[in-house]
Amino acid sequence: MANDKLNPACTRRELHEANFLIRHIQFKKLPTSAIIFAFEDNAYAYINHCMHMHRPLNCEEDAIFDDTGKYLRCSMHGFIFDPKTGECRSPVCFGQRLQALRLKEIDGALYFAEKHLTLIE
Ligand code: FES
Repeated sequence: MANDKLNPACTRRELHEANFLIRHIQFKKLPTSAIIFAFEDNAYAYINHCMHMHRPLNCEEDAIFDDTGKYLRCSMHGFIFDPKTGECRSPVCFGQRLQALRLKEIDGALYFAEKHLTLIE
C-alpha cells in the first residue's frame, strides 16, 4: 500500500508543544534537515536550507519565525519567507522558495510523504 513510503515526522502534540521541530533526513540522497511547524493550525515542513547563503534557518538563533510570528525568518541575514508557501519576501531572493516537504496526517501523527526521503537517526 501507499503507506509503506511514509516516514514518521512527529505527532500533532509534539508540534503543539514546540515552536518548531527539526528532523535529520536524507533527501534525494543528500543528508540535510527538515523544519516542521504549525501555522494557523496547519502543519508544514521544509528543507531547512536558506537559498541565500545555504544556511539552516536556525543557524544563528534557536528560532525560525520573525517577531511577528507571521513569517519564517532566516537567522543568518534576516530574510523572511511565507510560511504557507516557503516563498522568500526579501529582495535579494524574492520569489525563490524553500523546498517544501509533503506531510500526511494519520490519527494525530504526521508523516513525511516524500518518495526520496529517509530519516537519519
Ligand atoms: S543565509 Fe539566510 S538570509 Fe542569508
